[in-house]
Amino acid sequence: MRHDAGARILEKQSWGDYHLLRFESPAMAAEAGPGQFVMIRTNPGGDPLLRRPLGIHDAGDGRLEVFFRTAGRGTALLAAKKEGETLDVIGPLGKGFRLDGPWKGQAAWLVGGGRGIAPLYFLGRGLKAKGARVKVFYGGKTAAEVPIADKFKAAGLHPAVATDDGSLGFKGFVTALLKRELADGAPRELFVCGPDPMMERTAAMALSRGLPAQISLEAIMGCGFGACWGCVHRIREDGRGHWRKICEDGPVFAADEIIWGEG
Ligand SMILES: Cc1cc2nc3c(=O)[nH]c(=O)nc-3n(C[C@H](O)[C@H](O)[C@H](O)COP(=O)(O)OP(=O)(O)OC[C@H]3O[C@@H](n4cnc5c(N)ncnc54)[C@H](O)[C@@H]3O)c2cc1C
Ligand code: FES
Repeated sequence: MRHDAGARILEKQSWGDYHLLRFESPAMAAEAGPGQFVMIRTNPGGDPLLRRPLGIHDAGDGRLEVFFRTAGRGTALLAAKKEGETLDVIGPLGKGFRLDGPWKGQAAWLVGGGRGIAPLYFLGRGLKAKGARVKVFYGGKTAAEVPIADKFKAAGLHPAVATDDGSLGFKGFVTALLKRELADGAPRELFVCGPDPMMERTAAMALSRGLPAQISLEAIMGCGFGACWGCVHRIREDGRGHWRKICEDGPVFAADEIIWGEG
């Protein structure tokens, strides 16, 4: 874990409520893996006091990217940052997606909803580098809620878009699109990040088909590195439920480990 108190912002892009910040942090970029996250101080003045967790959207060449949706005061302050300003960042944190074994020629399907698409770009690039055939299911309420579909396309990550109102791509939930595609064949593994109901539904689809799935959970976090116990979730181990810290033991867990609806 690194602490960079002066990570310079190199680029900022915005699409309505969604924003991307690329910043310089060579040590963190060298260590980062897909599915890990950073904790960013959004206001050096101290309000909000707590850092905010954001998934690593991409990393490489001494730079990191975060992609986020404004949710409240912290993310609104981050969205107001400009190129040339600096960020105070801790990371990389947590246990990310596991990409064990050979992936050459194997199909990997990534399923993201809304801001949950953020960590799937870095993951998709990593899987593609291992020779996997990557397809990305990207869902949002409207076309405006899937602003980086073209970025996935440009990286050869084959996005299949679903919008609730049908303004872009498939009309309906991303889980409905996934269900339709699963009727024609299954990948080796699913990788999922998004709102809880979407992740729970996807986990159920995977489990009922005996399909491995890795799910990236979210929680409101105090510290991000195991000190406060603010982020616990019920996880199944040895047939029993245990409280596990999402920041330290996750955020990524296997679908069959997660006990939904108990925190
Ligand atoms: C490991 C991890 C990775 C994340 N990665 C991303 C990312 O890549 N992009 C992105 O846009 N967001 C991501 N989030 C969510 C992001 O951290 C929150 O949206 C942010 O902390 C909200 O801060 P705020 O001060 O803007 O809003 P607040 O004022 O703190 O909260 C606004 C509203 O959002 C709710 N909320 C806050 N944090 C969470 C949370 N973690 N889960 C569910 N509801 C929450 C609050 O209860 C409140 O209703 C991630 C969260 C975690 C735990
Ligand atoms: S956020 Fe503090 S223990 Fe997880």
